[in-house]
Order: sequence, then structure tokens, then C-alpha cells
Amino acid sequence: MIYSVLKPLLFKLDAETAHHLALQISELYQAHTYQFSPRLSSHKNTLELPSPIGLAAGLDKNAQALTTLSSLGFGAIEAGTITLKAQGGNPRPRVWRYPEQESLRNAMGFPNGGRESILINLKNYQGASVLGVNIGKNKESTPAESIDELGQLVSTLGQANYFTINVSSPNTPGLRALQEPGYLRELFSELKRHTDKPLFLKIAPDLVKEEIQGLLKISEELKLEGIIATNTTIRPDLGVGGISGKLLYAKSLMVQEELLQSQTPLTIIGVGGISSFGDILRFWKLGGQWVQIYTAFVYQGPTFIHHLNKEILRFLDHFGIYQLQTFFDLSLAVRKKMIEEYEKKIS
Ligand SMILES: Cc1cc2nc3c(=O)[nH]c(=O)nc-3n(C[C@H](O)[C@H](O)[C@H](O)COP(=O)(O)O)c2cc1C
Repeated sequence: MIYSVLKPLLFKLDAETAHHLALQISELYQAHTYQFSPRLSSHKNTLELPSPIGLAAGLDKNAQALTTLSSLGFGAIEAGTITLKAQGGNPRPRVWRYPEQESLRNAMGFPNGGRESILINLKNYQGASVLGVNIGKNKESTPAESIDELGQLVSTLGQANYFTINVSSPNTPGLRALQEPGYLRELFSELKRHTDKPLFLKIAPDLVKEEIQGLLKISEELKLEGIIATNTTIRPDLGVGGISGKLLYAKSLMVQEELLQSQTPLTIIGVGGISSFGDILRFWKLGGQWVQIYTAFVYQGPTFIHHLNKEILRFLDHFGIYQLQTFFDLSLAVRKKMIEEYEKKIS
């Protein structure tokens, strides 16, 4: 198993250096178009994913390794965060590991090559995974300028199957204030003038119930495709930046529960510390369908998503169900009972 040899070497390097090296190695690997099992496919609102497990934003900021990442079994790949103009982000070091807790802390501040740098990469993409592009504001832009920037991004990145608007990174000053309803109303009305692609809002885990409900209401009103919950959490006791991985799990799950219990018709994508099939089952028990993963993929390696996809097939086999969509079409009460039975079996 190559990653078991590579991981101790990569983990000796500074986290960001290791990250770039791993991406470069994966670019050397000649990816084939991965054939997903048709059994793993499912749809919700306007999207259909060949696996319910997506790659969260931030790992492939400049869309350099899309086809390779797709071949690792992700049903969707979210490139970015990309900003209109290139920017360097915060000074390094800006990514730290917490290996015992399988967690990371990052204060990257959206380093990326800007829109021009990813156009060709998006065009060259050949994978079967759905392609999302996560977009954000440039550091120096005012809220009003950022509406124009984001509008330009969605109107020119036509290769994307969906867009995610990132107003929840803790590493761009003032960004989280953009989760304010008045601003969102103005922003999304403008974006809808520029694109008819599905739009997701990515939210922070550090919101109180009223704020979560407020964001859900406005997302429904603006007819967004859905909400991606959540971004990283702030933990000033650990240092600057945002925490991801297992240390984030409980907080993200609470936000996901708050969103899902309202029976919203929107697509709620669960992200934050998901690191096992058991975690996916827990999200499904709340009524959720699709998840994203970043940190657990870094710790568990390139075969992790294939492993999770196999676990899903085993779950379907146990109940004699051919396709995942058939499971999602069952009532929530029935799905819950099945999951509880399966959890007992695997515990
Ligand atoms: C190093 C690093 C960089 C990230 N960069 C971005 C980013 O550019 N845009 C974004 O929306 N989220 C970014 N994230 C957040 C992830 O997309 C995800 O929401 C978060 O890490 C929680 O998922 P996880 O616990 O599976 O990692 C980043 C996370 C990490 C660890």
C-alpha cells in the first residue's frame, strides 16, 4: 500500500508543503476515467451524483488534479476557493496538523491563481464526478465590489456543474459578516442574473440556531440549490484559523441536524469531520443524502473513498437494495430503522 509508505514521509514535512507535493505526485499519475458502480448514483433537486461522497473545497484550489481526484471515487469534486484575481493568501506556515485527533487547522486566506489560472484546467477535466467550483471574494474587496466579482466568476466558469459561494471561511477578514440576510439577498439576485447553474451557500459551524434558521429561510426564498454545512470552526484556544476533522465533527453535525429537521426541500450537503461510514450513516439518519470530506482523506489516504463506496454497497446488499436512490426514496422513518438495524450489525 503506497500511502502507508508515503504518509510518514509526507507528515515529516510542513503540512502545506506535503499538500503541494501530494498534488504534484497525483498529477503525474495518468488518471483513467473512473467507472462508478451505477448502484451508487443518486439525485436530489437538479443534480445527480455518481457517489454520495464529494471532495470538499480547498484541497484542489486551482483545479490542478480534477481527473485524478475523480478517479479516487469522489462523486463530486469542489475546486476552489477561487477568487477573481490571483492572491497569495496569508503568510506561511498556515496549516497545522493534530494527528492524534485526525484534525487540521488552517489560516490560508484563499491563496489561489485567480480565475484565469483555472479556466484551462476546468476545460481539460475528463472525470465522471460532478464538478463544483467554490468561489469567494478577493481579500481587499468591499462587500459591494465582491458582488460584482462573484458575478463575473459565475458568468465565465461555465464548465462548473454547480457553484458554491463561500461566505464562511474564518480566514478572510469580514467574510463571515457576508452571511447577513440583506447582503445575501442582493448577492444571489445578482448571481442569478449571470447563471442558471445550481448555487450553494457554504456556511460556518459557529452560528446560533436563529442564524441557521435565518440562512435556511433566505436560501429557500432565493431558490438556491442548497446549503453546504459546514466550513471550519474557530478555536482561538488552539490558535488562528479554522479547525477541520474530528475536532469539528460534533459542531457540524449540530448545524446539519438543525437544517435537516426543518424538512427543507433544499439539498443539504454535510461536511465537517466525517471520517467513517458510521458518520455517513449518522448523517443519513438525520435525513441527509450527500456528504463531503477533506481532512479524513488527508489522514486515511487515496483509497479511503473507494473503501467508503464499498461500504455503501455492502449496506445496500444487506437490505437487498440495488440502487442507493431506492434507499433515499424510502420514508425517513423507514430509513432510520434500517440504519439502526445495520448499526447494531456492524457494532
Ligand atoms: C487546508 C484547508 C483548506 C481549506 N480551504 C477551503 C477553501 O478554500 N474554501 C472552502 O470553502 N473551504 C475550505 N476548507 C474547508 C473544507 O472545505 C471543509 O469545509 C472543512 O475542512 C470541514 O471538512 P473536513 O472536516 O472533512 O475537512 C479548507 C479546509 C482545509 C483543511
